[in-house]
Amino acid sequence: MIYPRTLIQTSRSFATTARVHRHRVLAYCEPGSPSAVIRAITHRSLPAPAPGTLNLRILLAPVNPSDINVIQGVYPSKPTASAFPGISSELFVAGNEGVAEICALGSGTDGKGLSVGDWVIIAKSQSGTWSSARNVHLRDVIKLPRKQGVTVVHAATMTVNPPTAYNMLNDFVDLKPGDWVVQNAANSAVGQAVIQIAKAKQLKTVNLIRDRLGNEAERTKRELKDLGADLVCTYSTLTDKTKLSELKGFLGNKPIRLALNCVGGEVTTHMLKLLGPNAHLVSYGAMSKQPLSIPTSYFIFKGLTARGFWQSQWYENRSRDERIALLEKLTDIVASGYLKEPKHEIITISAEDTDDVATQKAQQLLSEVETGSPGRKVLLHIEDPVV
Ligand SMILES: NC(=O)c1ccc[n+]([C@@H]2O[C@H](COP(=O)([O-])OP(=O)(O)OC[C@H]3O[C@@H](n4cnc5c(N)ncnc54)[C@H](OP(=O)(O)O)[C@@H]3O)[C@@H](O)[C@H]2O)c1
Repeated sequence: MIYPRTLIQTSRSFATTARVHRHRVLAYCEPGSPSAVIRAITHRSLPAPAPGTLNLRILLAPVNPSDINVIQGVYPSKPTASAFPGISSELFVAGNEGVAEICALGSGTDGKGLSVGDWVIIAKSQSGTWSSARNVHLRDVIKLPRKQGVTVVHAATMTVNPPTAYNMLNDFVDLKPGDWVVQNAANSAVGQAVIQIAKAKQLKTVNLIRDRLGNEAERTKRELKDLGADLVCTYSTLTDKTKLSELKGFLGNKPIRLALNCVGGEVTTHMLKLLGPNAHLVSYGAMSKQPLSIPTSYFIFKGLTARGFWQSQWYENRSRDERIALLEKLTDIVASGYLKEPKHEIITISAEDTDDVATQKAQQLLSEVETGSPGRKVLLHIEDPVV
């Protein structure tokens, strides 16, 4: 689905002058179940930006699995509390990722290549993107390169999943065109980015998904093949001797040297059967909540290396220039037609919604995301409330 810039830009204009506005945030006081603790709160307009800062209108912000864990209080990244005048308790505004439009520039921010109306990626972790507006420091945003085909949905989801996929394909094994990569949870948003970025790099992918009812498995396989997947199988293939040997036959004499793990548990143990000597298993998610179990023989006799990857750590360890270079590469891949928008749904919290209605909408959505994977990326579009 394309969500054209004009649709968002004209939905409600955000003042760049003294016009009085309110803004709305989705926030919580104490960690807990997101569907219970999140509240919509309308607050007074942002004041004019302080020196070195920008006022932003958030265009779209995704709901990622890690956002749920942050609100639950079980994720290593912690949000910073914001004080809202008139509200006694400190609040944590939820949301880590998103794209925004600059509405006003504080003094000292001119001459840095940014103008009112520019789109920026929120670069600071846990900045509270589930809002209609935010004030942020200049150093906490990166201007989005304007390239053909880069939509607002691409931009809103460009900080977490595509870079994770790109870096895992790049940083561990020196892969050459024609090499195979295997991954589980291949239909996840990260998995879909892996398929497409691998295709752009002329790599081949074996994609493992959960068994599904009825025609669901075939539909999911077709969708992943349309994205560029070379092989798509369900996990049961790995425990069926005949199917496993057929699968190995497809791979020919090219041993797999990179396996990407989003799931953990038995599924991952079985995935190792497809690896050749000196391979890397890179874990970035633990969706099954089951620990990894790797037979010792893989380390002794097959030279397996098992590593973890965390994109937030990558950002911590790298310079701003490296981050900008990564964004350039990813937007190039989008512009070349390889990286499509993730399958998604946009949930609008509209200007007319009262805070009670907005809270209800947000809690219902979070309950769905919390209890299972919704099968699409959910993005929030929160409008300034009407006063
Ligand atoms: N380390 C990092 O830097 C990094 C970066 C981005 C994301 N992540 C992590 O990667 C994971 C996926 O994120 P996403 O945004 O791509 O999520 P997503 O699009 O919601 O996909 C979730 C995936 O997990 C699978 N899944 C859910 N429960 C499962 C279970 N019990 N057993 C096996 N598979 C299960 C789903 O399969 P079904 O469709 O069959 O339900 C789906 O493929 C999350 O854990 C996220 O935190 C990590």
